[in-house]
Amino acid sequence: MKVTVVGAGNVGATVANVLATKGFASEVVLIDIKEGLSEGKAMDIMQTSHMLNFDTTVKGVTNNYAATAGSQVVVITSGIPRKPGMSREDLIGTNAKIVKSVVDQILEFSPDAILIIISNPMDAMTYLTLKDSKLPRNRVIGQGGMLDSSRFRYYLAEALNEAGYPATPTDVDGMVVGGHSDKTMVPLASIATYRGIPVTQLLSKEALDKAVEATKVGGATCTKLLGTSAWYAPGAAAAALVEAIALDAKKLIPCCVYLDGEYGEKDLCIGVPVILGKEGCEKIVEIQFSDEEKAKFDESVQAARNTNSKLGDALK
Ligand code: LAC
Repeated sequence: MKVTVVGAGNVGATVANVLATKGFASEVVLIDIKEGLSEGKAMDIMQTSHMLNFDTTVKGVTNNYAATAGSQVVVITSGIPRKPGMSREDLIGTNAKIVKSVVDQILEFSPDAILIIISNPMDAMTYLTLKDSKLPRNRVIGQGGMLDSSRFRYYLAEALNEAGYPATPTDVDGMVVGGHSDKTMVPLASIATYRGIPVTQLLSKEALDKAVEATKVGGATCTKLLGTSAWYAPGAAAAALVEAIALDAKKLIPCCVYLDGEYGEKDLCIGVPVILGKEGCEKIVEIQFSDEEKAKFDESVQAARNTNSKLGDALK
């Protein structure tokens, strides 16, 4: 299978790198507008193939969308990243124009592709892509929940260790829904588990709240340390979505998708649990939130609608 990654910045290159090492794709095309960047990163990745033992071909191209033709899955990372102190929402004007033009060019050469959106503000960019492309909603998926859930597991493992329960993130199950936004994402502490045991039985309310708050600003914390936004976890998260689709794995993963009545909402893209398989989002899974989490989800919905309202002319 052929996968395209648009944008050869830190996140895009990490997606290509993780995809290559996983080895299920025959070809990964990395495309960027900056002359030589994709070619250089693709070459660097390919020169690891002997050590890392993969047979995926990673090809870098500058602005040559014809080279992306026939891709089954396309990951869109294009746009500017945030700097310390910026919110994801601050990027909307610049990134809306970029994402629209990328989507048009991608669909010209890969009309049947499933699109995975990473560009921020991700929920609004997913909504814009869906509206602009008029693709069926199963084929436009925003990546946020996988990343945020992974960060939630990391902070829960930290809290469990502090409470005397040895844990790494793989010992923990946890999910984040709602918008991919510092203020309004919703880590679902009520259903998080440590090797099947509800974490609510093991952690104090304070420790849980601390893990939830750390998760919400997980991206901003990295941005502050790095001077730009994170890439390893965002890249691995997008690659995990590609894998679930490519292998028709039917995995339950929180993703940003268009709601048409699910969770009582319409005309909005936001993070909810979905089943990912070869058709993209094959099913939206409706689960019960606690009252507190439901109230937070509703706030997140309002915030996402508010951000969408700033798309303005981009939606025309
Ligand atoms: C993050 C950015 C990529 O959360 O949205 O790190």
